[in-house]
Amino acid sequence: MNVLVIGSGGREHAFAWKLAQSPKLDKLFIAPGNAGTAQIATNVEIGVNDFDSIKDFVLKNDIEMVVVGPEDPLVNGIHDYFLADDQLKNIGVIGPKKDGAELEGSKEFSKIFMEKHGVPTAKYQSFSKNNIEEGYAFLETLSPPYVLKADGLAAGKGVLILDDLTEAKTELANMITSGKFGEASATVVIEEFLNGIELSVFVLTDGENYKILPSAKDYKRIGEGDTGLNTGGMGAISPVPFADNTFLQKVEEQVVKPTIAGLKTDGIDYKGFIFIGLMNDNGTPSVVEYNVRMGDPETEVVIPRIKSDLLDLFEGIANRTLHEKIVEIDERIATTVMLVSGGYPEGYEKGKVITGFEAIENSIPFHAGTKKEGNNIVTSGGRVLALTSFGTSIKEALNKSFVNAEKIDFEKKNYRKDIGFDLI
Ligand code: AMP
Ligand code: GLY
Repeated sequence: MNVLVIGSGGREHAFAWKLAQSPKLDKLFIAPGNAGTAQIATNVEIGVNDFDSIKDFVLKNDIEMVVVGPEDPLVNGIHDYFLADDQLKNIGVIGPKKDGAELEGSKEFSKIFMEKHGVPTAKYQSFSKNNIEEGYAFLETLSPPYVLKADGLAAGKGVLILDDLTEAKTELANMITSGKFGEASATVVIEEFLNGIELSVFVLTDGENYKILPSAKDYKRIGEGDTGLNTGGMGAISPVPFADNTFLQKVEEQVVKPTIAGLKTDGIDYKGFIFIGLMNDNGTPSVVEYNVRMGDPETEVVIPRIKSDLLDLFEGIANRTLHEKIVEIDERIATTVMLVSGGYPEGYEKGKVITGFEAIENSIPFHAGTKKEGNNIVTSGGRVLALTSFGTSIKEALNKSFVNAEKIDFEKKNYRKDIGFDLI
């Protein structure tokens, strides 16, 4: 089978790395991909939202399966586009249609969905310019910290957590009336602050059945000790030690089952990944957010732990036969450490030559922001390279990632040397 993966990050490299191992695979293409995916598949210079060009490519290259990495094309309706086209409608698309993608595309939609289907989540209300005064009044009824969320997609930056009531009111106005996050913050969800430790659980569904994939914990802040600005993710660990069987059973009963059943009740035929961001408050799960794709860098630890054929699982989604499949998981611990460009997540320079790949031992380098320039591989983004390693303990796995993080070099390289600090 010929497969096209859409996207260009570490997540997509991890998908490509795993798909390339499938006996069912013939040709693998990545649009647009990066220098890492180019080593195992064919990169195609097409943007993730250029549906017409994707169509041409799919038809010319007999693609039978399209795996959508990022949320943007899903929210923009790539799956609907395929279904509406006679030539494309029988091609498998991994990723929900527009209606399902709203779980990530609109915080308000996801809160309404959770409330309706009894999925535990923080209490909330949403506000826009018509009722901003009520928003101020609602803030007064809450105790700090105050959680303000832009309704729409804001590249992972649309959530503010503030300790001060006056500041929270000012920011509410900035979001709604001054367009702090553009159109995305025309509506703002204000919600109760949840205590606890965060983790993520990933689910694969064909709309009827589901499989729960390994849990993971992501390190979002740029600074050691979880300080400083939020990033896309600086590292990840799977499984999460505090997510024991009792907790995961609660997640399945209280979150996963009502989510899958709720989608069906609401007539949302969902095929793809559901990324459930959770808070574990003394063993009680509460949903922080849904994403309609895999996480990055969580994919770089979750996918390597799946022993089963990923393309076979994707076929199960496309044909709605996921219940016939078995997901076998590697018991070992996987860690990943992300090397980033100095300055990220604020301004940073690109085009720095990366060296040391040949010295990597006992880690899998998943490329994120890299590209080929002549004979060199150079940086082309904030997050550059994820180094994934296995171990029988978190420490052992991390140690391998850190040793290799020192072997890779590029100007102004930065990485967190304390990934997993709270778990060891
Ligand atoms: P989100 O984009 O909804 O995942 O929010 C970004 C981050 O803000 C989450 O990963 C949490 O760390 C934090 N966060 C969001 N909502 C809450 C909440 N209700 N209580 C505590 N922290 C939250
Ligand atoms: N690492 C967080 C995300 O992918 O949203």
